[in-house]
Amino acid sequence: MESGTKLTIPLIVGNWKMNGSIQANHSLMLSILDGISLWSLPIKQEVVVCPPFPYLQQIRDILALEAEEAFDPISLGAQDLSVYENGAHTGDVSAQMLTDLGCKWVIVGHSERKATHFETAASVADKARIAVAAGLTPIVCLGESKEMREAGQALHNIDIQLQPILEVGPDLIRSCVFAYEPIWAIGSGSIATSEQIFEMHSHIRRQIQSVTGQEGSSVRIIYGGSVKADQARELFSLDCVDGALVGGASLDAEEFLSIIDAAS
Ligand code: PGA
Repeated sequence: MESGTKLTIPLIVGNWKMNGSIQANHSLMLSILDGISLWSLPIKQEVVVCPPFPYLQQIRDILALEAEEAFDPISLGAQDLSVYENGAHTGDVSAQMLTDLGCKWVIVGHSERKATHFETAASVADKARIAVAAGLTPIVCLGESKEMREAGQALHNIDIQLQPILEVGPDLIRSCVFAYEPIWAIGSGSIATSEQIFEMHSHIRRQIQSVTGQEGSSVRIIYGGSVKADQARELFSLDCVDGALVGGASLDAEEFLSIIDAAS
């Protein structure tokens, strides 16, 4: 199952979702950084952690204090951003605020936000555009439900989610990372099969390249949905997989370190 040679540095993103506390975050981050410091530096993978908004500054401080001198092995991302720049939008967090806090990345359109905050494909494209304009790299989530897959509509459903971003054009697409996250795999304990991942990643790649041409071959397409240490090596052995978006397993330092290591 080859889709070509990997052109990108593996990207491992920890999505903490609505988990953590000042104390728990502190020990999690120290364990992760301790683990990485035992490897030969600099590591070959790009690692991102996405804590809840209130903890961004805490994690930024830990990274600044604890990371190896002159080498910052982990960068900071947020789990969402506002479509608005500023003003009367109670509860929203703007792209500018995220860059102010040292974020380089932002997850957009996670299926949990689509389900509970009614985000649409169009608003996800807006968020991706706003993120890029502010200098953030959006990690755009795409994924079909179990019902869609069983109805043979998985590819079509992904196309509907992709369309508004493709319409914005090649510059936006080249500035995004895409995360294929089948909704039925997230938090289920069961990762999608290699065949399912290959089919969908290849399809997303083709759709991207229909707008960008060959340049789209270096756009990263990562996988998310029950990624755990024990299947990580098999996952990363697929040429079509440029990294992982990791939920539950990113809250366990040992698991997360093993996943990062598997991508080397
Ligand atoms: P999971 O979550 O790894 O816990 O399945 C992945 C995600 O929702 O990003």
